[in-house]
Amino acid sequence: MTAIAPTRQPKRVKAKFIGPLAAALAFIMCVFAIAIYGIETYIHDQDLAARSTAVVRLFAHKLDRDTNLMMATVRAMFANPAMEDAFRRGDRKTIAELGGPLFKVLRSEHRITHLYLIRPDFVNLYRFHSPDEFGDVIDRVSLLQARDRQVPASGLELGAMGTLTLRLVVPWRRDGVLIGYIEIGEEIEHLIAEIRHSLSVDLLALVEKHFISRDQWQRGQALMQRVGDWDRFATHAALAQTTDRFPATLDDRLLGRLLAGRTADLQDQGRSLHLAIVPLEDAGKKHIGELIVMRDITDLAATFRWSIVAVTVISLLAAGGVLGIFYIALERVERDYQRQHDLEHRLLRLDTEHRRILQLEKLSAVGTMVGGIAHQLNNPLVGVVNLAQLAEREADDPARTRELLRGIRSAGEDCREFVKRMLAFSKVSGFESRTTAMASLIEDTVLLFRQAERRHLRVETRLPEEPVVLMVDPVLIRHALFNLLVNAAQATADADGVIRIELARQDDATRGLPGWSLSVSDQGCGMAAEVLTHVFEPFYTTRSDGTGLGLPVVQHVALLHDGNVTVDSEPGHGTRFALWLPDTATETSSSSTST
Ligand SMILES: Nc1ncnc2c1ncn2[C@@H]1O[C@H](COP(=O)(O)OP(=O)(O)O)[C@@H](O)[C@H]1O
Ligand SMILES: [Mg+2]
Repeated sequence: MTAIAPTRQPKRVKAKFIGPLAAALAFIMCVFAIAIYGIETYIHDQDLAARSTAVVRLFAHKLDRDTNLMMATVRAMFANPAMEDAFRRGDRKTIAELGGPLFKVLRSEHRITHLYLIRPDFVNLYRFHSPDEFGDVIDRVSLLQARDRQVPASGLELGAMGTLTLRLVVPWRRDGVLIGYIEIGEEIEHLIAEIRHSLSVDLLALVEKHFISRDQWQRGQALMQRVGDWDRFATHAALAQTTDRFPATLDDRLLGRLLAGRTADLQDQGRSLHLAIVPLEDAGKKHIGELIVMRDITDLAATFRWSIVAVTVISLLAAGGVLGIFYIALERVERDYQRQHDLEHRLLRLDTEHRRILQLEKLSAVGTMVGGIAHQLNNPLVGVVNLAQLAEREADDPARTRELLRGIRSAGEDCREFVKRMLAFSKVSGFESRTTAMASLIEDTVLLFRQAERRHLRVETRLPEEPVVLMVDPVLIRHALFNLLVNAAQATADADGVIRIELARQDDATRGLPGWSLSVSDQGCGMAAEVLTHVFEPFYTTRSDGTGLGLPVVQHVALLHDGNVTVDSEPGHGTRFALWLPDTATETSSSSTST
């Protein structure tokens, strides 16, 4: 018996895939989250940078706008001949009368804080905002620029008291002759407030301390009723700011960082703040200080945090979903795999069992054969022994002895007959085929059969019209046909029964080969299903005087000719045995020789 080969256990497909898949998904998720974080941070930085740029642009734009407004005011004054006349004459009283109301309106409605009339030699003739101070020489950058270029000059000017003023100086000429300058200016605080409203940022204007003195600055603060901050930074003084809530952490260190060109994000009293810096230049393009831009990004940061959390949660859910789908799919694969494995295992076991059964069958066939031979030989031998004993006892009676000896001889002949049949059976393997005319073969066999069969049963033969010549061993075929006829006769109890022999063209159903079917049908007892399954086994017989070798010989003959034997039987109605032979000699049929 073949041992069942141990097969490998099905691999744990799930365990093998899920781990690496989860790792891959985790990696992808990490990369994804980092990318999202990077992109969001970039967008948010870009937004803040854009806002800082917008502050610069808007500041410049507002300076331009206010400069234009001041220019219009100056032009209005130029157009006033009385004013021009008073200016030429240095008539301060008339100037005050003519310009005073205008300046009041300008100050109250247009935030104009400074208005000067300056003589060509730079001596201040009249200060509308401070009429008592006059006769001093003014040498501010914007005035020098206006003188040098003889065109209007404008820009920011840092005052001695720490005020940052937008000034416009326009040369006043009549008929090509310079008669003096008009200077007009405004504090820029309101611009900072406007920018704050437009861009939602807080601004802190700082000037470098070395441009101003602390005393002057304090005077200026008092004058303008401001509460500036001198001490917060070592190098800068705060001039103007849009909120009191600049963070406490905004100190020299942070300022240094901003001055180095970097931005800063910080937390202050639950707020997220982003700080950037914009340089401040005066009319002469001199760097005088900084504008710190502060944006409250609390909402943005919260949104950003939430979006990161949302993206992470969604990614986790998606990854979980993918893992789940894979898990189910892999479980199916594993189940199929297991099923296939079990099937293979079962097939292997069946195969092994099948082999074992075959082995057993062979053994039992040999057993049956030996039993059959023993049985066949035993009966006559028992007879021989018994008869010989009797003969011994009755040796005095010659007549009786002769009779007993006849019995012994008869039993011996039975043995010999059996041995002869056995030999005939084994001789079947001697196979010699030649072209054989089937009609005469059948005829000869029927003749032989009639001599052996005492009841003279009717034998009908149906042959095809054309002569059939096949390449067969005629001795073996005759022997097989004879066996079938004898069986048919033995199965037929009724003396009127007919045995039919038929030769007909028939293709082999399974192999599709052309051939001939030589069949013997009877109307005898037929066979039960149980008998049918055993009829081709050697020594299987249902008859007391049978040998069980007839049909095995027929089958053996068929196989030697590459043919086969089939049987149809119905208990009580008859049996039909058909010996199928391949059409091996069709080409030689014309030159056939009969046997
Ligand atoms: N034509 C038939 N009709 C009914 N039974 C048959 C027929 N031919 C064979 N058999 C059955 O098959 C058995 C085996 O036949 P066979 O091999 O010729 O051995 P034997 O004739 O010695 O019994 C017979 O004992 C019989 O039971
Ligand atoms: Mg027989």
